[in-house]
Amino acid sequence: MPYLKIPKGWDIPESHVTPESDYMNRRSFIKELGVVGAGALSLSLLSPDAFARPKNVEEQLAAFQDKPLAVEHNPQFTVERQMTDEVVAATYNNFYEFSSGKKNLWKLMEDFETRPWQLEIGGLVHKPMTLDVDDLLRQMPLEERVYRFRCVETWAMVVPWIGFPLKALLEKVQPTSDAKYVEMLTFWNADVAPQQRNSRLPWPYVEGLTLAEAMNELTLLTVGIYGHILPPQHGAPIRLIVPWKYGFKSIKSIVRMTLTNKQPRTFWHTLSPREYGFESNVNPTVPHPRWSQATEWMIGTRERHPTQLYNGYGDAVAHLYE
Ligand code: MTE
Repeated sequence: MPYLKIPKGWDIPESHVTPESDYMNRRSFIKELGVVGAGALSLSLLSPDAFARPKNVEEQLAAFQDKPLAVEHNPQFTVERQMTDEVVAATYNNFYEFSSGKKNLWKLMEDFETRPWQLEIGGLVHKPMTLDVDDLLRQMPLEERVYRFRCVETWAMVVPWIGFPLKALLEKVQPTSDAKYVEMLTFWNADVAPQQRNSRLPWPYVEGLTLAEAMNELTLLTVGIYGHILPPQHGAPIRLIVPWKYGFKSIKSIVRMTLTNKQPRTFWHTLSPREYGFESNVNPTVPHPRWSQATEWMIGTRERHPTQLYNGYGDAVAHLYE
């Protein structure tokens, strides 16, 4: 593995994670198959659009589970808390382009086509590129990481993402010395995402990181979850995961990244600057103007825990803010 071994507060034996039983069964199945290099992925593994319309979320997920992405779990990224159940995570989503509701988003997204999909990277870079997402899946060093995820609304989950460090892609495009930020943009198509007709919201959804945050080893460009490619409600076909920041920074269904020297005007910050700062690191001592951030609750079990500074990832990221 090309990843640095760093001492981390969350580094505990994998046996301490109590994952969903189905998920473990699937994982051992993947192990039996042997680890398939990203280059060996066949397109038939990657075409959920061919699936018939599911009757319920279990049926939707089964179609993804039948086509596992065989990648190795990175044991450096494991969490002491119980893994969130896959059905729970797939029915408690935020994706405002489709609805402000959470539970039935998967159902509202049946006409959302996530393949083929192009990702464009440009701005202050030496080598701008437009990449097909499936080509990216074949080329990049995919791995599985279990991360804590904390929404600004105080709910939290622990899920296994599949992806590669954003850093690996930025190294390909070679940011110029003027580049200070990475701006990221979600698709804009009101024909499939009806809330994008609401002109009071500043579409398209934009998020951003400083270049140093984007280059941090924890910042993951994510293409899969629970052993398979992302279902639409989790931000297919490619999204960001920044585990030490509130969940709204983890932008879904990205179409463009632009390296820039100006702080991006992000969606939530534009709507309510006092409530959603650009930085938005998880911090129990900084309340949201309308609620406390001192504790969080796990979706599914509703267990409550004290919120941790940087969501527990301080060892890897605190130096960015000194
Ligand atoms: N990305 C887009 N494009 N649109 C959104 O509404 N919601 C954000 C983030 N990314 C959002 C988005 C918020 S508020 C959260 S908490 C997470 O996605 C939720 O991710 P999940 O549904 O996979 O749990």
